[in-house]
Amino acid sequence: MKAYELQAIGTLDGLVAVERPQPEPGPRQVLVRVHAVSLNYRDLLVANGSYGKVAFPLVPASDGAGEVTAVGEGVTRFKVGDRVAASFFPDWIGGEVIPERTRAARGAGKTNGMLAEFVALGEETAVRIPDHLSFDEAATLPCAALTAWHALVEQGRVKSGETVVLLGTGGVSLFGLQFAKLHGAKTIVTSSSDEKLVRARMLGADQTINYAVTPNWEEKVLELNGGRGADHVVEVGGAGTFAKSLKATRPGGHVAMIGVLAGLSTELRVTDIVMKSLRVSGIFVGSRDMFDDMNRAIALHRLKPIIDKVFSFAQTKVAYEYLQSGRHFGKIVISLDR
Ligand SMILES: NC(=O)c1ccc[n+]([C@@H]2O[C@H](COP(=O)([O-])OP(=O)(O)OC[C@H]3O[C@@H](n4cnc5c(N)ncnc54)[C@H](OP(=O)(O)O)[C@@H]3O)[C@@H](O)[C@H]2O)c1
Repeated sequence: MKAYELQAIGTLDGLVAVERPQPEPGPRQVLVRVHAVSLNYRDLLVANGSYGKVAFPLVPASDGAGEVTAVGEGVTRFKVGDRVAASFFPDWIGGEVIPERTRAARGAGKTNGMLAEFVALGEETAVRIPDHLSFDEAATLPCAALTAWHALVEQGRVKSGETVVLLGTGGVSLFGLQFAKLHGAKTIVTSSSDEKLVRARMLGADQTINYAVTPNWEEKVLELNGGRGADHVVEVGGAGTFAKSLKATRPGGHVAMIGVLAGLSTELRVTDIVMKSLRVSGIFVGSRDMFDDMNRAIALHRLKPIIDKVFSFAQTKVAYEYLQSGRHFGKIVISLDR
């Protein structure tokens, strides 16, 4: 079968198109013919070596969706023909986040990902995808969507009338925008591009701030929210934005700490958290049970993921480069059917 392997890290030259033997489904495994894969910023971190050690050769990319083409002995959850996506952490089915459950993550370390024509998945680690979504759309869910869902719904318990700030217009942030709207919240989206902010408004963003033009965007958030501050910030920037996110949040509000787009480590004034009684929650994608919960909401509301561009399998490296450029709005997909 056709696949991609990371054979070295550092540059995208380590990403190589290869032929690999097609896997057989073992006991309680399903064989999935992968139709689409989506990329996450994290896949760049894996490729450039910032996401820890890699056991070469590694099939990269955590996110994919496809069709069950064979089932192994003892499988009860799925049958041939079912449409499924892989859950990000093969060992986190439900319950608390403990190290044993998040040690293995698809497309990193020693755990192969989804950039292959066929993948064998433990049946407990696959989820059924909503009927109204194409494979391209469903492939965007496992990492970016689930992270936003975990941040706002599981941890945040977002409520109607609350205000949610979304930083930038990448994959996690646009799902955050959609889930916040779904729950009746007001949304403030930041971006470095006015054109992207127009698109965010078309998706329902109530207020927008260009953070390149207004670097003190946290003051603008307070101004837009009557001085009160946001109830939730979906914090994907990390070092470069964390202090601003703390300032943009109302006393008692919630900062969902997710990403490192603007750096990994920074100094912290502890009193900025303590004296405002802020709740800062670290979010690490989510469990399979959360994925099933999210899919029920996506199906009920017929929510459609925002896909910027679909590349063919042969264009995989171009798709990675496009992600690296930051020109995208929402998700980048690689179709194995093109
Ligand atoms: N903790 C977890 O489990 C988890 C899960 C998923 C992702 N993540 C992390 O979350 C982050 C986002 O991931 P993603 O896949 O959604 O990324 P992405 O789709 O590549 O998002 C890129 C966008 O982020 C925006 N951005 C970049 N620097 C920014 C800054 N300083 N301030 C505000 N926005 C900025 C830009 O939007 P504009 O062009 O509009 O300015 C850029 O286009 C990454 O760091 C990723 O590693 C963590």
